[in-house]
Amino acid sequence: MLSLAFNVLSVLSTVLLSRGNPLVPRASQWTFTEKGNSGIVALESIIVSPTLALFFDRASDDPLQIDGHSAWGALWDLQTSEVTALNVSLGGDPRGFAGNPDIEPGNMGIRIFEPCDNPAGVGCTLFEDPTTLHLAEKRWYPSSIRIPDGSLMIIGGIHVNTDFYNNLTAAANTIEFFPPKDGGVPRPSAFLKRSLPANLFPRAFLLPDGKVFMVANNQSIIYDIDTGDERILPDLPNGVRVTNPLDGSAILLPLSPPDFTPEVLVCGGSNVSDSIPPDQLSSQTPASDQCSRITLTEEGIQKGWAVEKMLEARVMPELVHLPNGQILIINGGGTGFAAIATVFDPVGNSNADHPVFTPSLYTPTAALGERISNKGMPTTDIARLYHSSVTLTPQGNFLIAGSNPNANTNLTVKFSSEFRVETLDPPFMTMARPSIVSAPTKVGFGQTFTVPVTVPSSLKATTIQVALMDLGFSSHAFHSSARLVFMTSTLSKDRRSLTITAPPNRNVFPPGPAFIFLTIDDVTSTGARVMVGSGAPPPQTD
Ligand SMILES: *[C@@H]1O[C@H](CO)[C@@H](O)[C@H](O)[C@H]1NC(C)=O
Ligand SMILES: *[C@@H]1O[C@H](CO)[C@@H](O)[C@H](O)[C@H]1NC(C)=O
Ligand SMILES: *[C@@H]1O[C@H](CO)[C@@H](O)[C@H](O)[C@H]1NC(C)=O
Ligand SMILES: *[C@@H]1O[C@H](CO)[C@@H](O)[C@H](O)[C@H]1NC(C)=O
Ligand SMILES: *[C@@H]1O[C@H](CO)[C@@H](O)[C@H](O)[C@H]1NC(C)=O
Repeated sequence: MLSLAFNVLSVLSTVLLSRGNPLVPRASQWTFTEKGNSGIVALESIIVSPTLALFFDRASDDPLQIDGHSAWGALWDLQTSEVTALNVSLGGDPRGFAGNPDIEPGNMGIRIFEPCDNPAGVGCTLFEDPTTLHLAEKRWYPSSIRIPDGSLMIIGGIHVNTDFYNNLTAAANTIEFFPPKDGGVPRPSAFLKRSLPANLFPRAFLLPDGKVFMVANNQSIIYDIDTGDERILPDLPNGVRVTNPLDGSAILLPLSPPDFTPEVLVCGGSNVSDSIPPDQLSSQTPASDQCSRITLTEEGIQKGWAVEKMLEARVMPELVHLPNGQILIINGGGTGFAAIATVFDPVGNSNADHPVFTPSLYTPTAALGERISNKGMPTTDIARLYHSSVTLTPQGNFLIAGSNPNANTNLTVKFSSEFRVETLDPPFMTMARPSIVSAPTKVGFGQTFTVPVTVPSSLKATTIQVALMDLGFSSHAFHSSARLVFMTSTLSKDRRSLTITAPPNRNVFPPGPAFIFLTIDDVTSTGARVMVGSGAPPPQTD
């Protein structure tokens, strides 16, 4: 169906071009565009408003300054490509950095970004109060996801810094919540213990029955938040491991009504043993080109993982939703590992080499073996290896930043600290696009609502897709809480209004901020920001 939509589109452009319509650009295609300088290494990237991305680095010697020292947080204006330093007091890890005074260790840190309505972020604040607001346990390299009551579930990590693997004596083999549950006492996880030592940044997804899928190392489970039970799923096939420092990436494929059947896709990583000391590993060891996909129903679990191949191997790839339901596969290296200068032959200080410069698209609805293509995709010359990030923006393109496989800022080495920001722009960025003229501030579960829309006359409106999306939080080849739920919709005959039905409950889309994108014949609108659910602070009760 998607390839049909593409065909319709290209036929239409040809027709319009031949009429010499000046509004229709020539040869619409995917492009990389350089956008300016991020000021800090964007090792974390989060869309926080229709116009702003929030970047964080470790407390380091980034060039962007605040109060006479390096900043390690910044707001990126998606409209002007301007960067503004944020006043951050917590570091990203337990260490200090000489050039930055008064850094508090960040391994129990919680930062709360207070959204504000100013498009440039003026007056938006970052709230930190390490004495009263912190995790129960030290965690370096944990993951966090939003769960059905709107709280965060925080999973795994390590109590100390590590050069490479997690560590049997210092692992944080536990799960905790924010705001706290269980009287603030972290829950032990047999899964995290079992998946040592290559289990940092566990990848986790909320499933539409309210349980949580997790994958770490080569193992996966479904976790019941209410009972703490872990259901063990089959290991990833062929010895492939996908969490830090052997990072692949994982994504929950788009959920569609009426059944919202969950499927998980895991790509890249490495098939080396997890008991080889890092100084016996090489930056030239081929990464894995394997994608593994599982349907998380009884029948799907019995069938197990189905394997397909990317066009190339990738360690630290990124998997990101497009509003039309495709998945972008981007970034990473063809060989080596995550982390810094621990293999016997780092390139500069990078444990990874052979950066992959051309992204691919994965079409979940296509047949096995026909899902992955880089046809029409552009090629960049900027390596995005360890400590890089990418996110879908409300504008509908992808923001790509960071990469720094170095201890601090290092501009003289191969794979130097990367401050150049790029966007990857889909063909529709230069076309006449549909728009959601206005959207309700809040969207209730199961609610049917109507929004005014505009649809360019160039579009036949053969396929209409309405995606409710959490754009996630990008770091270390994982997009925490990223989610795409398709909503049923009807376009009015005059093509001026769209009637949409929101997801039925908070398991399908946990309450919190979201963007709605309208895609007509593969041409996507900009995103309209909404609050799903009441907007009350977590934990929300029914
Ligand atoms: C940053 O925060 C510190 C500590 O709260 C404060 O002393 C300083 O004035 C702040 N700087 C800016 C530019 O807001
Ligand atoms: C594991 O952690 C312990 C405790 O912090 C530390 O003493 C030890 O050196 C670590 N082992 C490795 C291999 O990093
Ligand atoms: C997963 O990793 C463990 C530990 O290295 C290993 O014993 C097991 O055989 C692996 N599973 C598969 C299917 O390769
Ligand atoms: C590991 O992956 C490499 C590169 O994809 C491949 O050549 C090799 O056969 C794999 N080894 C095993 C044991 O699967
Ligand atoms: C950059 O990395 C190289 C290779 O490790 C090292 O020799 C050099 O001292 C580093 N420069 C800085 C500024 O850290």
